[in-house]
Amino acid sequence: MARNKFDVDERLESPFQLKHLKRAGKYIARHKWKMIAALVLSALASVATLYIPKITQWVLDEAVPAGDAAMIGRMALLFVGVIALSILFTTIRSRMMAHVSQRIIYDIREDLFAHLQRLPFSYYDSRPAGKILVRVINYVNSVSDILSNGIINMILEIINLVFIVVFMYSTNATLATVIVAGLPFFIGVIILIKPRQRKAWQNQSNKNSNYNAYLAESIDGVRVSQLFDRQEVNMGILEKLATACRSAWLRAVKISNLVWLSSETMTQLVLTFLYIAGVYWMGGGAMVSFGVILAMGQYVSRFWQPITNLANIYNSFVNNIAYLERIFETMDEPVIVDDAPDAEELPPISGEVDFQDVSFAYEEGVPVLEHMDLHVNAGESIALVGPTGAGKSTVINLLCRFYNLNGGRILLHDREGKAHDISRVTLHSLRSQLGIMLQDSFIFSGSLKDNIRYGRLDATDEEIREAARRVRADEFIRRMPMGYQTEIKERGSNLSQGERQLIAFARTLLSDPAILILDEATSSIDTQTEKLLQEGIQELLKNRTSIIVAHRLSTIKNCDRILYISNRGIAEMGSHDELMQKRGLYYQLYTAQVQEESPEKAAS
Ligand SMILES: Nc1ncnc2c1ncn2[C@@H]1O[C@H](COP(=O)(O)OP(=O)(O)OP(=O)(O)O)[C@@H](O)[C@H]1O
Ligand SMILES: [Mg+2]
Repeated sequence: MARNKFDVDERLESPFQLKHLKRAGKYIARHKWKMIAALVLSALASVATLYIPKITQWVLDEAVPAGDAAMIGRMALLFVGVIALSILFTTIRSRMMAHVSQRIIYDIREDLFAHLQRLPFSYYDSRPAGKILVRVINYVNSVSDILSNGIINMILEIINLVFIVVFMYSTNATLATVIVAGLPFFIGVIILIKPRQRKAWQNQSNKNSNYNAYLAESIDGVRVSQLFDRQEVNMGILEKLATACRSAWLRAVKISNLVWLSSETMTQLVLTFLYIAGVYWMGGGAMVSFGVILAMGQYVSRFWQPITNLANIYNSFVNNIAYLERIFETMDEPVIVDDAPDAEELPPISGEVDFQDVSFAYEEGVPVLEHMDLHVNAGESIALVGPTGAGKSTVINLLCRFYNLNGGRILLHDREGKAHDISRVTLHSLRSQLGIMLQDSFIFSGSLKDNIRYGRLDATDEEIREAARRVRADEFIRRMPMGYQTEIKERGSNLSQGERQLIAFARTLLSDPAILILDEATSSIDTQTEKLLQEGIQELLKNRTSIIVAHRLSTIKNCDRILYISNRGIAEMGSHDELMQKRGLYYQLYTAQVQEESPEKAAS
């Protein structure tokens, strides 16, 4: 899969595609009555305000010359009434639309999150978490506004425009034509600016996404960066990304301002022309009245306003279509590790495992395992050792089906002895029978109790305590101020690493898996605690198949079989004693480690 990093722009170029908008229709359709009501209210509000120039005209041309004070009073009342109505309608509309746009955000985000939860590891391997966040947060926000208010505003501006033209022509057709004549020039300018404007905004959004990706990564890794005193270097990187963001933004604004600038210029030009023509006609035979010229002057800006707005809405549509595309692309991201259409429930397994001719690569052309065969008996304990990067964790990832194989198959036997290909059974029935403990177990925010029963929500308090007791976690939990109810901060930052690991052990024990997998699970625990934990682990291993990865070889010495993983497969296999006699790779690794730990012992 292609990889993306915080300093690499995502592809955001895409032509205006109606299909994304159509698909987005699903989110809008649920609110169609509210949107229609909002539209009607807004249309009423803007038609009402169109009477303001008319009122001006009536006052100047009729009431003032006639000296009709009562009519001026009536007109003033009408003026106030029109403005009050328009404010009222606009307020109701804003409230309704705020509600609709929040619902749209909620709905899209829910769908997006539901899908993200199902995406395989390989998806998360291939892009920074920050960029995924930007999609879920920023893009969805931005898109919801265009889907709710954007669509309404577009229709409104068109209605506005039609009404203004009608009002203008009903006031004075010749002058109206003078005003409309400016339109082709403006459209020409827009056509020239548009492509650049679009590119500029897409570029801006890319830079923003990069910035967010780096920010998310830095916050995630803040402990390491403080440790390595990287603050200044990181500030430099962030500043560079921020500068890119800022200049992209400035450039986009600069181009966008051209739209406003040209519409404003157009308005002023047309206005000047209108006044000159009006005064000229007035002088030469009073074809138009003073009131009409003033009213038409007001219509000029009202005519150009919706056109400018339409140009901007169009622009924001085009940008947001690109966001919609990114959102839908995420929703369409294939769940390649998924239940097969005819997937069966995996019956309770015995713990017997077969790897048959298994080949796998994370990235094309870089095989990690090739043609690997392995048979594990039920109840057997297997240790995987070998140099770093050899593929030990990969064996485990494949057994849990976090990735799909490139070749071969992995079989699990049920209690009747029937073999099941793990790619043909449901993920839930597979993973619920496997217990996995990693080096750095993820602890979620919530209480200690919630964390222990994470994989088995129906566990009783007594079962939870029993599991904790068996892995020797009970003691430290009791010492905590609130015992099992103690609130754990995000990632368990208020626990020691060993404590976190003990919680994870209890969690795994509680879920009572048929196969237990420990990947460097004890490496973060001090030797003292490990000794304590060994008893717990022994209990965990009882009547269970176990696969243990450990760098500290003393912890796996007693396993039934030790597999030395190297060179894309199993290089050596046997019990500790057998492998020591063989004096091969394992022997070298073991003696080197013993020597390191106690040189005297190795020398003797
Ligand atoms: N998500 C990934 N994407 C791409 N390559 C990966 C990924 N995870 C691991 N690799 C590569 O696959 C190889 C095997 O990795 P693996 O994690 O299985 O090693 P390991 O034997 O568990 O090492 P260690 O003892 O350090 O944990 C390594 O070369 C590693 O760089
Ligand atoms: Mg590993």
